[in-house]
Amino acid sequence: MNTDRKTALVTGAARGIGQEIARILAGEGFYLFLADLSTEANETLQACKALGAEAEFIRCDIRDAAQREDLVQTIGTRVGRLDVLVNNAGINVQERKDLLEVEAEAYDRVMDTNLRGPFFLTQKIAGWMIRQKEAFPDRNPIVINIASLTSYAASVHMAPYCLSKSGVSMMTQLFAHRLAPHGIAVYEIRPGIIQTDMTSAVREKYNRFIGEGGLPISRWGTPADVAKAVSALVQGFLPYSTGEVINVDGGFHLRKL
Ligand code: NAI
Repeated sequence: MNTDRKTALVTGAARGIGQEIARILAGEGFYLFLADLSTEANETLQACKALGAEAEFIRCDIRDAAQREDLVQTIGTRVGRLDVLVNNAGINVQERKDLLEVEAEAYDRVMDTNLRGPFFLTQKIAGWMIRQKEAFPDRNPIVINIASLTSYAASVHMAPYCLSKSGVSMMTQLFAHRLAPHGIAVYEIRPGIIQTDMTSAVREKYNRFIGEGGLPISRWGTPADVAKAVSALVQGFLPYSTGEVINVDGGFHLRKL
């Protein structure tokens, strides 16, 4: 089958930011593939289907080469096209720890999930997107990486996470350069402090930070804030841009005197 409908793959779509990205793309008529380490994504699936979208869940541990291969194969067999890849799956450090005490296992776990897995998934999909663009020049496949304000803000108690996200930002630039001649754009979204399960353990810390004026837009970000940026990108309104970074952070990145 080769569907006429635009198709998107969202990794880490079982909950949080990925769930909201899936939901917004569903509302825009995308055929959705939801990939997650979690064994089910019923909440996301139902939300997408309620919006009239076709959506399928594929269990995939982004760290695992065979599972990444299966994921791409399955989408190829099911619909034969992919217009949007959203590299959203990610984890933080299990335990915040001074970088002088970080263990190799904790380092590898974060790097494998946040950087190595997405790098090789994107590599695989990029090759396929190039072939699709050659066969269907009217299509404009894009890649969106979900990085973080820790791509540039050093947090010494989350060293592996910071390293992985700064790596994702370089990954955006690398793929943007490499894929531009093929008509494939690569964008990056840098969320700030977003209310999800990932930040639930540090809610009080960030409540204080925000309460004390840490953010120009003085509130927590929501998954919908991030999903709306994805929506803006997939609509194709940045046709002469690639490697572009969109900060969805309440203005955290602004410097002031
Ligand atoms: P979350 O923890 O609520 O959801 C992450 C999802 O990724 C979960 O469904 C989880 O099962 C999935 N996942 C984890 N490891 C996986 C693996 N190996 N393979 C496939 N799926 C896997 O996190 P949240 O907050 O929704 O984060 C989404 C993305 O946004 C992550 O990349 C995160 O680093 C990034 N981000 C989040 C921020 C926040 O404040 N919540 C801020 C900046 C970036």
